[in-house]
Amino acid sequence: MVIGLCFNVKTNAPSTDPTAQTDAEYDAPETIAAIKAALISGGHKVIEIEADQECYLKLYKLQNRLDIVFNIAEGMYGDAREAQVPIFCDILEIPYTHSSALTNAIKLDKALTKKVLLYHGIRTPEFQLFSRPNEPINSHFQYPLLLKPNAEGSSKGILNANLVKNEKQLRERLRWLFKAFSQPVLVEEFLPGREFTVALLGNPPQTLPIIEQRLDRLPSNLQKFASYEVKWLWEDTLSDPRIAYDCPAKLNPDLEKEIQNISQDTFAALNCRDVARVDIRLDKNGKPHVLEINTMPGLIPGEDIISYFPIAARVAGYSYNSMLLAILEAASKRYHLTKKH
Ligand SMILES: Nc1ncnc2c1ncn2[C@@H]1O[C@H](COP(=O)(O)OP(=O)(O)OP(=O)(O)O)[C@@H](O)[C@H]1O
Ligand SMILES: [Mg+2]
Repeated sequence: MVIGLCFNVKTNAPSTDPTAQTDAEYDAPETIAAIKAALISGGHKVIEIEADQECYLKLYKLQNRLDIVFNIAEGMYGDAREAQVPIFCDILEIPYTHSSALTNAIKLDKALTKKVLLYHGIRTPEFQLFSRPNEPINSHFQYPLLLKPNAEGSSKGILNANLVKNEKQLRERLRWLFKAFSQPVLVEEFLPGREFTVALLGNPPQTLPIIEQRLDRLPSNLQKFASYEVKWLWEDTLSDPRIAYDCPAKLNPDLEKEIQNISQDTFAALNCRDVARVDIRLDKNGKPHVLEINTMPGLIPGEDIISYFPIAARVAGYSYNSMLLAILEAASKRYHLTKKH
């Protein structure tokens, strides 16, 4: 097949200023090259298409040549940025991998995603979406609470200090987040239990081996959640990245089944396609809750890097290349595409 690989590429070196990470979710050139090589290893021709402001024009010109777009583009601006490439493909009737425009737009809004989950009876932490710092607070809330910008990923804006114990701290943090990120802030009850992430592949998806993030191994100056400081600073200091996680997670069979089911239910509730990663945390009673779903999970190559989807795929027996080809195959089957070389 002729595949258009749509991506956004990181141009800035990682910043130590957590509010200045404009392209934190974009892919490094090495990741884009590795995905391209994986698709070529399956006998395909790959055309690179950067999802910049000329993306639609590039796709328009290639419309009759492309059999499918492999879409890892996070998009450029706005609250539906992850929907941009899917919409272009929809307009041009080009098949594409990963979820639809609608799913990618909803999933980027964490509060809206939680409303969909609740409709389907899927547990997710109690929450309130603040549109200004002095909004009255939900009286049922139990501290501690965790604050997150409503529409970011890669722990952008989720700092260690966002875990607050009282209203004074909450208001201070709200003011800071509104100033730094200019968007609604999601406030959730903090779940104290173990944390898992579940990679899903295919339609309907198979769950790959469950990963537990070993937050119990964090140094005592860090709160027990995957904050900006944990993902962008602590993980880089590890002599062995496997200190940060277990895969497969050590679980009793009932809890394992419960986590697999809630992940698959989430994939179905959001109409996800081909690939996704669901973040899950246990409450004080040991019950799993969904924190969020990632419809374009990071696919960074290399065994020394913490990139959870490829880690789970590796433990399931996929090579990096066969994992990428399995995502492509899942999408190709949906569109009934057959291989043309
Ligand atoms: N309600 C909660 N209770 C406990 N911990 C939480 C809660 N919400 C978020 N966290 C912690 O914060 C981390 C980041 O939250 P979340 O997954 O929503 O953000 P993200 O930046 O979109 O993540 P990703 O890197 O997966 O894109 C979680 O992995 C978890 O450790
Ligand atoms: Mg997450």
